[in-house]
Amino acid sequence: PETGCLSIVVLGASGDLAKKKTFPALFNLFRQGFLQPNEVHIFGYARTKISDDELRNRIRGYLINDKSSSPEQLEKLSKFLQLIKYVSGSYDSEEGFQLLDKEISGHEVSRNSVVGSARRLFYLALPPSVYPSVCKMIRNHCTNKSDLGGWTRIVVEKPFGKDLESAEQLSNQIGELFEEPQIYRIDHYLGKELVQNLLVLRFANRFFLPLWNRDNIENVQIVFREDFGTEGRGGYFDEYGIIRDIIQNHLLQVLCLVAMEKPVSLKPEHIRDEKVKVLQSVLPIKDEEVILGQYEGYRDDPTVPDQSNTPTFATVVLRIHNERWEGVPFILKAGKALNSRKAEIRVQFKDVPGDIFKCKKQGRNEFVIRLQPLEAMYMKLTVKHPGLEMSTAQSELDLSYGQRYQGVTIPEAYERLILDTIRGDQQHFVRRDELKAAWEIFTPILHRIDNGEFNPLPYQPGSRGPAEADELLEKAGYVQTHGY
Ligand code: BG6
Repeated sequence: PETGCLSIVVLGASGDLAKKKTFPALFNLFRQGFLQPNEVHIFGYARTKISDDELRNRIRGYLINDKSSSPEQLEKLSKFLQLIKYVSGSYDSEEGFQLLDKEISGHEVSRNSVVGSARRLFYLALPPSVYPSVCKMIRNHCTNKSDLGGWTRIVVEKPFGKDLESAEQLSNQIGELFEEPQIYRIDHYLGKELVQNLLVLRFANRFFLPLWNRDNIENVQIVFREDFGTEGRGGYFDEYGIIRDIIQNHLLQVLCLVAMEKPVSLKPEHIRDEKVKVLQSVLPIKDEEVILGQYEGYRDDPTVPDQSNTPTFATVVLRIHNERWEGVPFILKAGKALNSRKAEIRVQFKDVPGDIFKCKKQGRNEFVIRLQPLEAMYMKLTVKHPGLEMSTAQSELDLSYGQRYQGVTIPEAYERLILDTIRGDQQHFVRRDELKAAWEIFTPILHRIDNGEFNPLPYQPGSRGPAEADELLEKAGYVQTHGY
C-alpha cells in the first residue's frame, strides 16, 4: 500500500450520513491502525458556520460511548478528533474550495510533501443535486497535480440519478471532470461480509459448481426487510421509493454476484465485466410479475404528500436470459415497516426426480445466506428422522458466524469500503456501465409508477407485506419449506 500524506475530506460533514457512517468508519480505521496520525488529516466541509471543536463535539457521540469506554479508547478518540479540521463554505463557492485547498496544502507542507503531490480523498456525503457543482469546485481548486504523483479520488453515494436519463446526465457531468478510476460509487451492500463472501463461496467450492444453474435451481430470492418505516426520512424517501432506495442498487448488486459467470481473475475490471453481462441479460420486467405495496400510515408523515403513491414495498421477478439461468425466476423483495429486519438470499433447488421417500411435503433443498442480522449460511436438507421408524425430516447444516467465528469482529461495510478507496481497489464499487445497465432494467416500471399508472396495495405495518406478494412468490415456483 502507498504511504505518505493523506487528506480525507468529508463534504457534508454535519449531515446524517457523515455523522452516522463516514466518521465512525474513519474512527474504526484509525483505531485499528489503518490511518496513521503522522500521515492523515481529516477535513470536514459544510455550509454551517461552526468551529473545529463544535464539529468534533457533534460527531463524538456517534463514535464512542463516553460512559462505557475505557481510558485507552477515550485517548484514541481524542487523538482521532485532533486530526479533524473544519472548513465552512457553500457547495458552489470558489472561495470556500480555495480555502479548503489552502488547508489541505498546509497539511501537505507540514508533512514535508510537495504541495499537490500527496493523496486526496473527497467523500461526498451530500445530496446528489449538488454533486455536479461540488465536483467542479474540487476539480478546479482542490485536485493534486497529477504530474507530481499522488492522486485525487472522489467517493459518491446513491442515489445516482432517478432514472436512466438523469443517471446518464450525472455520469456525463462527473465524467467530464474526473476519470472513471478516480470515481468510487458506493453501494454499501458490497461492503457486507456475506456479500463479499459470495464469490469465494461460488467459485472456490466444488459443491456448488455443478449445481449452480437452471438444471438444479428452481428459483432465487433476494430479500430485504425492515421492521421500521421511513420515520424522519419521509421527504427523501417519497421522492425515490423502495425500488430506487433498495432494489435497483443493493439487491441488484447482490443478484449480480449470485448470477455472474466466473471472472477471468479477481481484478476489479474482470469482476465488473461479468456483473455488467448479467445486468445486460435481464429481460424487460412484466407487469404481472410486480407487486407494489405502501404501508398504512405512511402518508401520515407530515413530509409525505397526502396523495403519495410511492411504494414502500415491492416484489419484482427478474428473468435472466442466458444459458445458465433461462427459466429461473430471481425474486427481489424489499419492504419497510414489515414484521422483521432481515436481508437474505434464498436459493431453492428443484425437487428430486423419482422421489421414493414421498418427501415433497418436507420441502425442498434450500441454501440460505443471511446477510444480516446474525450473519449465517445454512443448507436445508432432508434427513432420516432419528429413531426406529423410516421417516424423513427437514434439517439444516448451519454455519452461523457468531458461533463459528467467536471473537472475530465483522467490519462495518463503510469501514471496508473507505479502506478500499484509500488503497485504490474498485472491485466493490459500481462502474459507470453497471449503473447504466441497472437503470435500464428499472426505468420503464419506475416511470409508470411516477405517472400514477401502477399503484401500490395497502399493507399493515408489522405484517409480511401485501398477501398478493406471497401469491406472486408461489406463482414464480417458490415452495415454502419448514424449519427456519
Ligand atoms: C440505505 C437505504 O441505502 O440502506 C435505507 O437508503 C436503508 O432506506 C438502508 O434503511 C439499509 O441498510 P442496512 O445496511 O441497514 O441494511
